[in-house]
Amino acid sequence: MKKIGILTSGGDCPGLNCVIRAVVSHAILTYDWEVWGIPYATKGLLERKAIPLNFQNFSVHGIDPLLSLGGTILGSINKGDTLDRSDEIIAGYQELGLEALIVIGGDGSLAILNHLAQKGNWKLVAIPKTIDNDIAITEKALGFDSAVNTITDSLNRLICTAASHDRVMVVEVMGRSVGHLALHSGISGGADVILIPEIPYSIAAICEKITKLRQERDRKFAIVVVAEGVTTENGKPSTYTDSLGQKRLRGISQYIAEQVSHWSPNSLETRVTILGHVQRGGLPSAFDRVMAAAFGKTAVDLLAKEQYDRMVAWQNGQPVSVPLKDVLQQSPRSVNPDGYLVQTARSLGIYIGE
Ligand code: F6P
Repeated sequence: MKKIGILTSGGDCPGLNCVIRAVVSHAILTYDWEVWGIPYATKGLLERKAIPLNFQNFSVHGIDPLLSLGGTILGSINKGDTLDRSDEIIAGYQELGLEALIVIGGDGSLAILNHLAQKGNWKLVAIPKTIDNDIAITEKALGFDSAVNTITDSLNRLICTAASHDRVMVVEVMGRSVGHLALHSGISGGADVILIPEIPYSIAAICEKITKLRQERDRKFAIVVVAEGVTTENGKPSTYTDSLGQKRLRGISQYIAEQVSHWSPNSLETRVTILGHVQRGGLPSAFDRVMAAAFGKTAVDLLAKEQYDRMVAWQNGQPVSVPLKDVLQQSPRSVNPDGYLVQTARSLGIYIGE
């Protein structure tokens, strides 16, 4: 093996640059390979673009900024519109002279890249990333821990202003069809109500919970964390159409806030905060940096051992590897409604539905 490629695909998150850095370090220092970065994932392959990655790329005055830089220096795409051009993408891969590819993506991107790898006979190893943490078989995906920390920090800030004005703050977080982000950050950030797509809720129960807090605990404000994939009480998702005509989730927090205000005994004053892409930016957490280093090393070692079509995963506090097809079959991974974390939330008095 002489020349490998690396790309980042799907929504960005903190930690991507750390994993690029780790792959480049290990591939060069241990194996003396060339590492080429493919800009904008499949779009880069389509356009036959590749950038040589080495330590010079990473140094600014001797400082290595990749460790703390959010986003991805390679760029990324979060739409599957290149799929119908698979023959051209495969030809691009061949023309670039790549002998193997490390891909960093969420379940949607990994499914597309796996399809291309099968069709083009690529030697592929995958690394899981997504703030949604919904990739199966890995306990953690890169970026999740950083996003939970960002949301927790925002909740710390919102609690102060909520308390000053005796308001109900409804905070919408990302997560697509699953509630891992809402559940983790709701617990760590002191929410009174957590709404996730996996567990039905009722507006009446939310109002009752908040009213009780006022009467019994003299807590005159409340924090409601709602995952973007939660639907209205009668099952309608809240979406908008983006500039490219694709449907995206957003706005369920507005519905929850209006309903709570309408149905609560004293027409509680509510405010809505949609955290949006703030959750995807910023510095990677210490945990994500360490996991990125371990993931990068493991991925390079898999290529060296000629173990392809596998994904690096985090299990019991360490990196392992698993067949990519198993991951794709079992993703997205939802919150277990009977799991320990839901029970933990309830033990704290948090209303989480049902
Ligand atoms: O999958 C990650 C994610 O941040 C989701 O939580 C969110 O619904 C989506 O991406 C937003 O995508 P985009 O950045 O394309 O708007």
